[in-house]
Amino acid sequence: RSVSRGLGDVYKRQVKNYEKMSEKAAALLFAQITLKPDAVLGLATGSTPVGTYRKLTELYRAGRLDCSHITTVNLDEYLGLSAGHPQSYRSFMRKNLFDGIGLSADRTFFPEIPESLSDCRKNTSTSIVGIRNETIQDVETALAEACRRYDKLLRSLGGTDLQLLGIGRNGHIGFNEPGDTFIRNTHTVMLAENTRQANARFFSSIDDVPTRACTMGIGGIFSAKKILLLANGAQKAQALQAAFCGPVTPQVPASILQLHPDVTVIADEAAGQLLADGLSARRKPTFAVP
Ligand code: PGA
Repeated sequence: RSVSRGLGDVYKRQVKNYEKMSEKAAALLFAQITLKPDAVLGLATGSTPVGTYRKLTELYRAGRLDCSHITTVNLDEYLGLSAGHPQSYRSFMRKNLFDGIGLSADRTFFPEIPESLSDCRKNTSTSIVGIRNETIQDVETALAEACRRYDKLLRSLGGTDLQLLGIGRNGHIGFNEPGDTFIRNTHTVMLAENTRQANARFFSSIDDVPTRACTMGIGGIFSAKKILLLANGAQKAQALQAAFCGPVTPQVPASILQLHPDVTVIADEAAGQLLADGLSARRKPTFAVP
């Protein structure tokens, strides 16, 4: 398959199923950590990387992987859930990876939502239930500051060596949702309704899914030297096709990855079904003005 890299030359690898996708992804992460024991890894949540994390945990248990010097930065965090909430992304990462590879909390980073803001469960862009109107401005200021701090942290780490990504059914990466523009910096975002529906399976009802989140922006994602995007299942086929066979457009946030010089996509057969003959083809990106 195509391995010479250039603009728009995404290396795509189709594998049979979720298991194989997870094996390949874990092998790449294993190689990255072996080559650079103090690597900075950008990590993702969601169902997609769970198998990859499981494989890494197995390698650790077998004594083959030393993670004691890595640093991790996660893509995003919900707003309105405390860090200890079982569905917070911090809890997710502890359960699915960090505890299993003996990674201490001080080497793992997330957008830090001030604890005092964790009660604002049902928040919209204009009102935050549970917080008095006059303090909303303060809340927004504190959130903007938290976003700035995350970008500062990313810069101080020199970006990530490898960024692991899933892809939303709507083409989002992290919580960079479809819109009129790509957003460079870490920012807060109203979650798209289909994103909340997709994530409702982790909550007792859709009403419990936060409406807002904080996400690394496209600039943070692009700070990665290498990007590894994973996709499995037929429900991701259209998003993958739009991202890698269509124009670069903020309506499909993942499409901007066509401009990154080192992207590997590993898709299972179901997710990659619409990429078929595009798998190893070189193509120059085209652009669509939103
Ligand atoms: P999923 O989510 O892995 O749960 O499908 C991926 C994403 O939304 O980025």
